[in-house]
Amino acid sequence: MTFPATRMRRLRANESLRAMVRETSLTPGSLVAPLFVCHGERVRRPIASMPGHAQISIDVAVEQARKLAALGVGGLILFGIPAKKDPEGREAYDPEGIVPRAFRAIKAAEPDLLLWADVCLCEYTDHGHCGVVRDGVVDNDRTLPLLARAAVAYADAGADLVAPSDMMDGRVGAIRKALDQAGHLDVPIVAYSAKYASGFYGPFREAAESAPRFGDRRGYQMDPANSDEALREVALDLEEGADAVMVKPALPYLDVIRRVKDRFQVPVVAYNVSGEFAMIKAAAQLGWLDGERTALESLTSIRRAGADVIITYFAEEIAPLLGTKRS
Ligand code: PBG
Repeated sequence: MTFPATRMRRLRANESLRAMVRETSLTPGSLVAPLFVCHGERVRRPIASMPGHAQISIDVAVEQARKLAALGVGGLILFGIPAKKDPEGREAYDPEGIVPRAFRAIKAAEPDLLLWADVCLCEYTDHGHCGVVRDGVVDNDRTLPLLARAAVAYADAGADLVAPSDMMDGRVGAIRKALDQAGHLDVPIVAYSAKYASGFYGPFREAAESAPRFGDRRGYQMDPANSDEALREVALDLEEGADAVMVKPALPYLDVIRRVKDRFQVPVVAYNVSGEFAMIKAAAQLGWLDGERTALESLTSIRRAGADVIITYFAEEIAPLLGTKRS
């Protein structure tokens, strides 16, 4: 049946009809908010390239966690700014480091809010790479035990999920083994399986002070041109014990999200990264785009591509709009 019997516009005629046939939903519970925690008290140092976001001390992070929980946001993921950086990234796995301390405080205040731990060394190393460096290259196998120690320190401190973002080979298996040995049999691993060497991480590196001092991350993060390789990464991480997998960034890699979702029937997380956020914010500030509308459209497209959960800097401002007719 074609026109005039078929008129696609019939089901678009008003918002009630559109809502009835809407295929993709977005709820606050599927969003995870990143926070940048630093030492000190009552600290709030705004991040210029990420309007509305700041490096915040633990007391402020607790208030922020309360606000996010009240909005029904699904969880938060912490990134730490250490007191001191060194070649081995010691504060990453120090049980008294900034992130474990923040987890303990937030868990005590908001026990039901899911706390995600990003496991990586780059915020803590003086050279800014995601692992320890030997002879100018990031040494995969020497980095694994340090990542495993960090994961255990975070789980001990109250993290509900651990998410390794370093892209070392074998880290999921190493972390699973260490968590199990420490008695954390039930702490899930969300693997940043397909993490691309991306220019869209620029604002994050300002926020987390984690830009590499030499070279770049192409020797361990994925080449943006590849997607078969992403499926291989996901398969390996699942074999090593990952409970959920991640694609990052999100918008330039919607095809990868879809391929992963079609191939593996596992929870898929997408990271709507700092540069994706900054682009919309900058254009909205110039009056070139409707910020709210384009943010909602971006998040909806990431869900439509196949992501179950989205880590996004828009969580706080978008959560209150969901459940309204527009979303
Ligand atoms: C590494 C990490 C990065 C991001 C999250 N975890 C940065 C990187 O690989 O350089 C980027 C997130 C973003 O851009 O929002 N620990």
